[in-house]
Amino acid sequence: SDVITVGELAKRMGIKANDLIKELMRQGSMVTINHPLDYETAALLATEFNHEVENVAFDEDIILEDVGIESDASEDSSNLQTRPPVVTIMGHVDHGKTSLLDAIRTTDVTAGEAGGITQHIGAYDVELDGRKITFLDTPGHEAFTAMRARGAEATDIVVLVVAADDGVMPQTKEAINHSKAAGVPIIVAVNKIDKPGADPNRVKQELTEFEMVPEDWGGDTIFVEVSAKEHTNLESLLEMILLQAEVLELQANPIKRAKGIIVEARLDKGRGPVATVLVQEGTLRIGDPIVSGVNFGRVRTMTDDRGCQLEEAGPSCPVEVTGLSGTPDAGEPFHAVENEKAAKDVAGHRQRKLREAELASSSKISLDQLYARL
Ligand code: GTP
Ligand code: MG
Repeated sequence: SDVITVGELAKRMGIKANDLIKELMRQGSMVTINHPLDYETAALLATEFNHEVENVAFDEDIILEDVGIESDASEDSSNLQTRPPVVTIMGHVDHGKTSLLDAIRTTDVTAGEAGGITQHIGAYDVELDGRKITFLDTPGHEAFTAMRARGAEATDIVVLVVAADDGVMPQTKEAINHSKAAGVPIIVAVNKIDKPGADPNRVKQELTEFEMVPEDWGGDTIFVEVSAKEHTNLESLLEMILLQAEVLELQANPIKRAKGIIVEARLDKGRGPVATVLVQEGTLRIGDPIVSGVNFGRVRTMTDDRGCQLEEAGPSCPVEVTGLSGTPDAGEPFHAVENEKAAKDVAGHRQRKLREAELASSSKISLDQLYARL
């Protein structure tokens, strides 16, 4: 059966945890605020404090609060600091998303100095004149949608890649719809302008249908004509991203426990579960207990996209971490919590809920089957 801690029970009854602890002491048990109580004990105590107790399933929010995950309402705005924009590149098949990202990464001087790119972690840091941009190298629409469905809108800006020789195609439209639904501003990168059949104006014309009108045509959509192949205009694309980021006034509080989302996760033969995570708030450190969905653990190692070991990662920072008990889904939120037990408790609680839901749906199926037979 479910358990409840002394602190939780006190909170739910609206009394001081100390009063509850005193009562327990009077009854002969020496306990702390985090001591778990079984249902019977809790019910007994509640009656003593004139409360009726329902053995309801644990409330996720209360649990998260109790393990030290503060709600955003308790945010101290004086701790807010400017953070780098998180950018997702979207567009139709073969329009050059991967090429553009690769070209941008080699344009990045710091990447060059560090000896180039060593590994794929699904998210990258790029720097222009000391200003950072985080690119999510998602497999495209599915990941973006998954993140949106989970309410973790990780992306600040979408770069919509449209090939100048091909124009607006079905997945271009999909990308526009996804971005608009998420309320994320779009910067258009008209790619492949080096090609003989390239017609950037046609792309601009076609996009006016979607209320995306270039600034030089009297609209407010930023268009940058680029060639991933010849590295044309990549710096102006980065400039435009940074300009848009300034307008958005992106901020986050680095001085609290980290939270963010899973960009991707896989099982590595030698290292176990490896997850690329995007820190959205707070600072993630080596040794931090974390929980993501039904997975939990401690951050054992933390690596950036160049393979450098990190001690900590702040807002908008993408890092690869090991130490989780399993591989969470892309788009799943993660939280750093007070201690490993709390991480385990939350994960266990979710596991139970999941199992209950599965049981409920399987018994529903059998009922349906029963009716089908009648
Ligand atoms: P998917 O991941 O399959 O959706 O494709 P993608 O959008 O990532 O396109 P990718 O970068 O793989 O490029 C597709 C093809 O277009 C490749 O053959 C690239 O070499 C080529 N390509 C990309 N950018 C340019 C460009 O600026 N100019 C020219 N000429 N070719 C390009
Ligand atoms: Mg690609």
